[in-house]
Amino acid sequence: MTDSIIRSVADLREIVAGWRQEGKRVGLVPTMGAIHAGHLSLVSIAAKNCDKVIASVFVNPTQFGKNEDLDAYPVDEAKDVRNLTDAGTDLVFCPGKEEIYPNGFSTVISVSGLTAGLCGPFRPGHFDGVATVVSKLLLQCLPDIAVFGEKDYQQLLVIRQLVSDLNIPVEIVGAPIIREDDGLAMSSRNRYLSPDERRVAPEFNRVLTDVAALIKAKPDECQNICRNAREELLELGFASVDYVSVCDIETLELLKTYRHPARVFGAAYLGASRLIDNLPVD
Ligand code: PAF
Repeated sequence: MTDSIIRSVADLREIVAGWRQEGKRVGLVPTMGAIHAGHLSLVSIAAKNCDKVIASVFVNPTQFGKNEDLDAYPVDEAKDVRNLTDAGTDLVFCPGKEEIYPNGFSTVISVSGLTAGLCGPFRPGHFDGVATVVSKLLLQCLPDIAVFGEKDYQQLLVIRQLVSDLNIPVEIVGAPIIREDDGLAMSSRNRYLSPDERRVAPEFNRVLTDVAALIKAKPDECQNICRNAREELLELGFASVDYVSVCDIETLELLKTYRHPARVFGAAYLGASRLIDNLPVD
């Protein structure tokens, strides 16, 4: 059970140090709150692998672009803490903005290469914001493992890269995407969809699933198949499509000819909501 919400790095460090002295294995689930079943699946993976689970709740301003939804991002701390605790979280770390970015904060962690494609060009600065806050959270908590969802697959690879490059002693665990019954990947932002948009939203996963099947049948046709998928999404009512792409699962290299192992990635706007999703070709 969570006794209280921890807000300072000093308190967090003291509690984690106590657990370590007792020989406990510690898992971290970083979140921005707006907790849903996808987050809870990460907690359950951490709980299966560790004695103690920390979840962090921090809406990180540096990963939002100027025209993105930082101000509208759903915040309900009490509900999030309750949901996380009920799912087996031992400590919820809810730092204020000053705790993470005190006056004079001047450091940016920037991962190149993996951030060049997919969401990178559409969300300038986003991955720097993610890499910086995740580096801080890992160093503040010093967990044995940290669990991240594959829905943000590019983010997962960026975090693996920074952990390896900076020698942060933590194992990064990727967790499968949790979907609604109709295939829509769970996301805190799904709550913004109007009823009409919500009806159309599962088509996103369906179209990406079709892309995976089609490129297996016609491996040389990746570009045409992805172009057709983008057009289909627009015809279905998506406002715009940032990308539908097939990429190598480790380097995220864009594949013109399919080769194993690859994933299909997509990002598209339905009304004002930006959906992202991805799935393995095999
Ligand atoms: O995936 C998220 O919710 C965020 O990007 C993360 C990893 C918590 C960093 O703010």
